[in-house]
Amino acid sequence: MHRVAAIGGDGIGPEIIAAGRTVLDAAGERYGFDIAWEEFDIGADRYLATGELLTEDELADLSRFKAIYFGAIGDDRVKPGILEKGILLAIRFHFDQYINLRPIKLLEGVWTPLAGKGPENIDFVVVRENTEDFYVGIGSRFSGRERRVLEVERELYQVKFGLDIETDADELAYQIGVVTREGSARVIRYAFDLARARKKKLASVDKANVLSDVYGLWRDVFSGIAAEYPDVSTEFNFVDAVTMWFVKNPEWYDVVVTPNMFGDIITDLGAMIQGGLGLAPGGNINPDGTSMFEPIHGSAPKYRGMNIANPLATIWAGSMLLSHLGEEAAAAAVLRGIEQSIAAGVVTKDMGGAATTSGVGDYVASAVRSG
Ligand code: IPM
Ligand code: MG
Repeated sequence: MHRVAAIGGDGIGPEIIAAGRTVLDAAGERYGFDIAWEEFDIGADRYLATGELLTEDELADLSRFKAIYFGAIGDDRVKPGILEKGILLAIRFHFDQYINLRPIKLLEGVWTPLAGKGPENIDFVVVRENTEDFYVGIGSRFSGRERRVLEVERELYQVKFGLDIETDADELAYQIGVVTREGSARVIRYAFDLARARKKKLASVDKANVLSDVYGLWRDVFSGIAAEYPDVSTEFNFVDAVTMWFVKNPEWYDVVVTPNMFGDIITDLGAMIQGGLGLAPGGNINPDGTSMFEPIHGSAPKYRGMNIANPLATIWAGSMLLSHLGEEAAAAAVLRGIEQSIAAGVVTKDMGGAATTSGVGDYVASAVRSG
């Protein structure tokens, strides 16, 4: 018996999570385990009705679960950033989900915009640091005439930017990235272990040539840990260059480890080469705590309730969830089920098919049951 928390969230979130749950329940039937689901009503509707994003009680409840199955958040009625920071990032940070695991794998039968590339060329994993870097939320924005300025900010303005905040009228904003030795070491070590279990190749993606303080530390930590893994071959790539190589030579990559913000950016590129956001799952993992599995796409509010959204990224995230719970055979069966639905053409409109969200879920579920 596994207990799993489900957060449908906004827009298409509840529908894709429902399809995913059907598949995971079928996997349980076939492989001999039960999933006890607990649903959490978190998202824009409740925020608009009550002003609550995530309550202390919910965080305490969620902490009793090893895994959360998460749909999507985001709603046109709410200013961008509120739900993202108040729910999604809040969960990632609160539960210290320091690994954001994003497989970039072109499944059999899926179209990629990269000419001449097939499943044998596109199969790597991005390990994104998930709790530090420019996501720590340290920053400020105000005009030079603002009088209520902290002493430390006054100094920052004067010493770093040469602005006299008492007299200069210029508007100014800053945001600080933070990298710690411990924070980098734990995710880099995870990436080395993963590489060791795969093709033993690990690339660090950073921008140490310009942001040399934060990513200089990152590189030092990487090099130190690399010495413990002589069997894994390593390289440093700059993030701008990696956007070229992912397109030109995706087959070069096996495991990629990268700080938070670059990981955000390059995994959308990765999603596109593996067939689009409809096929891109992610896991937010704390190996010793509460982890969360989600499609990396958003809530697509305009398709809400229409039963046409592609649930495959969510189902794939469900496969990652099962693997995290130790149900490896079931996890593999779910991924095979996804490939079967693609081979049979039981896919949604974005992939050229005519199936509904629930129809795809049901198809994959029956494939898993009879597989
Ligand atoms: C992602 C998303 C989030 C992020 C947003 C919605 C906060 O883009 O999961 O990649 O930036 O991490
Ligand atoms: Mg993103």
